[in-house]
Amino acid sequence: MIPHCLPPVAQAAPLRFLPAVFCGHQPADTLDPITALGLSTLFAGYEVYGCASATAALALALQAAARVTARVREVEVPEVVLPAYACPDLLAATLFAGCRPVLADMRRGGIAVDPADAAAAATANTIAVIDVRLLGLPGAGPALGRALRDARGSVREGPAIIEDCAHVWPDEAAASTADAVALSFGRGKPISLRWGGALLVRRGGKLDGWVPAIGRAAPSLARRLGHWTECVAYDMALTPWVFGTLTQIAGRRVDTIRLVPLRAIEGFPAHLLGALPRARALAARNNRTQSAVAAMLRETPGPWRTLVPTSWPDAGARLLRYPLLVDDEARRDRLHDALWGAGLGSSRMYRAPLDQLPDTAGRVPARRCPEATELARRLLTLPVHGGVRPFHIEAMRSAMRHFAAGAHS
Ligand SMILES: Cc1ncc(COP(=O)(O)O)c(C=O)c1O
Repeated sequence: MIPHCLPPVAQAAPLRFLPAVFCGHQPADTLDPITALGLSTLFAGYEVYGCASATAALALALQAAARVTARVREVEVPEVVLPAYACPDLLAATLFAGCRPVLADMRRGGIAVDPADAAAAATANTIAVIDVRLLGLPGAGPALGRALRDARGSVREGPAIIEDCAHVWPDEAAASTADAVALSFGRGKPISLRWGGALLVRRGGKLDGWVPAIGRAAPSLARRLGHWTECVAYDMALTPWVFGTLTQIAGRRVDTIRLVPLRAIEGFPAHLLGALPRARALAARNNRTQSAVAAMLRETPGPWRTLVPTSWPDAGARLLRYPLLVDDEARRDRLHDALWGAGLGSSRMYRAPLDQLPDTAGRVPARRCPEATELARRLLTLPVHGGVRPFHIEAMRSAMRHFAAGAHS
């Protein structure tokens, strides 16, 4: 019997930042989240823009890309190439920036966008391609730039490459080669304040000097309190019995993935700046758990394989969650039910390509993306945050062994 439910990712306990809700009213023009994190030397090559979320940071980068492109050629409807398997917030950012999303398939059997397919999807109207480091694993990286140059070499000012590092620890995101990087301090992220993000723009790069100014009003007390209450409610909703009851009342699973439109690009919430270093210290504990989960999976064969490349160091760069590709959707769903039901915090992530989510029909031109569809059907992820204790990992091992025995019989 597991005494409590594992949340999918570590969260700073809301009590830790309750004082900031009441006392943390700082002048909004002193915002510098990266300095607050002690990362300013790591990000020395970037201009840093504090934002309210990674979605806002992505939208800001796209606005900059549209301005740069408009300088060199006329584009009727700017297009943005997105990985077909991605968080719908990428779509929200694209639509907010007035751009048309174009999907690119994932690399076969992997978790990153396929550089060749992204290049094939790009046209003279493409202002940017977003590369996502899903779960903290590598994205397409420099191969994407090469593929775009090969495909569109003759076009002056090819698309900007924006790396979505919402799932990556900020210090690791510094290694990016993209024109801009989006970071998140939102719910479920490596450093989770449930509010905040940043856009890093490479100095001397394509987007340098083109980022529009954003409003910097500090959030009102009502908003700060509203956000805090939401955090408490979310944590409560993750206990198995509350989650189960909510699911029954709603008549369907509460973990449905939806498109939430972006309404405005706002600055970093000033009152949470002081909470960032403490949240970072909490997040830094996660590594040993990741290695222990990796070891457990190596010793537990079943109808799945891990999506972590063998070259990926167990104790090195950190994962947000540990990804598995289960042999088929039915088994993936049953394994998830078994693990989640035991309070072990598994997640199936997005479960459909971007053009097939609720609310996205008609907003994303359909494009055949078989690899993204496979990933959506078969991906299952395990938590590796600091709250995962050895007895949780033993419980995962036992549930997975039991499942594997049943799955093969
Ligand atoms: C890969 C990815 N990118 C971007 C975002 C948006 O982050 P934020 O919540 O800070 O807007 C998310 C949100 O979950 C995400 O998973």
